[in-house]
Amino acid sequence: MAWAGSRIRPRRLRTTPALRALVRETRLDPAQLILPVFVAEDLGDDGEPRPITSMPGVVQHSMNSLVREARAVADAGLGGIMLFGVPVAKDAVGSGATDSDGVLNRALAAVRAEVGDATSVMADLCLDEFTDHGHCGVLSTDPSGRTVVDNDATLERYADMAVAQARAGAHVVGPSGMMDGQIGVIRDALDAAGHADVVVLAYSAKYASGFYGPFREAVASTLTGDRNTYQQDSGNLRESLREVALDVEQGADIVMVKPALPYLDVVRAVSESVDVPVCAYQVSGEYAQIEAAAANGWIDRDRVVLETLTSIRRAGASSILTYYALYAAQLLRA
Ligand code: PBG
Repeated sequence: MAWAGSRIRPRRLRTTPALRALVRETRLDPAQLILPVFVAEDLGDDGEPRPITSMPGVVQHSMNSLVREARAVADAGLGGIMLFGVPVAKDAVGSGATDSDGVLNRALAAVRAEVGDATSVMADLCLDEFTDHGHCGVLSTDPSGRTVVDNDATLERYADMAVAQARAGAHVVGPSGMMDGQIGVIRDALDAAGHADVVVLAYSAKYASGFYGPFREAVASTLTGDRNTYQQDSGNLRESLREVALDVEQGADIVMVKPALPYLDVVRAVSESVDVPVCAYQVSGEYAQIEAAAANGWIDRDRVVLETLTSIRRAGASSILTYYALYAAQLLRA
């Protein structure tokens, strides 16, 4: 029996895989994916990679296993590799972050020597992995006697850290500390040191999120307390538009929204409000959720990985930081 709408049938375009592929609006390409990686100083050059319990399949690398991973990233055609350092010694100002012999800067040099320009070598530009108190900046005491993360004193550290990372070979620096004015100060420092070509990937809209839980294990974080005085409140959307506008004004080349899946409305709004590329970070807790459910047989990992990444792209992100970058590239090739 015919019904009134029988001439118009959306299901027609879903009949075959070829038709579905023909009309698919959003695709994933390995070149749009960036792999975050961890390098731990105590593992030395040849230590066995150390599994991260809360992120099954993700490890802390030694220097040599990191270099092999970077080769795999380049060979898979990924857009980039984002390095996080786990130093042996930490202090109040995060000295290891600006030391050319510090674990992150040495890792940058080793990775850049291995891959050249075959993929983009990136570094997290933040002090939290290097400070003994675990905050993203340096601390001071405000007039009322409160211990606070000192915005402007932190900017000086970030400026030095940016230059150290550029010297070590970073194509891209990723300031993730949410200090006011960080993008402008970093841009100026890079330019003054002759690194006008180094790209600033700004973690512009970064929320104070429970989804960073597993990352704290990954970097052996010493943080007690929270980051609520610098990272954004999860109830806010307009604030993200303000943050990205400020970062673009200060010279951000790419802006980022983080986490990704719980903040797709922010990804969408940001992508409509700026004309620079928008990146999103599928963070450790997003990864851990998928892994836990997949390990229980409750969801199909491969489907969910591609579905979440496609959703993040559909929301307006042109690139994605994801611990699944290599895995997804394999799925896309298959
Ligand atoms: C700060 C930083 C964090 C993450 C990336 N950069 C931790 C934080 O802000 O507490 C989290 C990434 C993840 O959870 O995967 N250097």
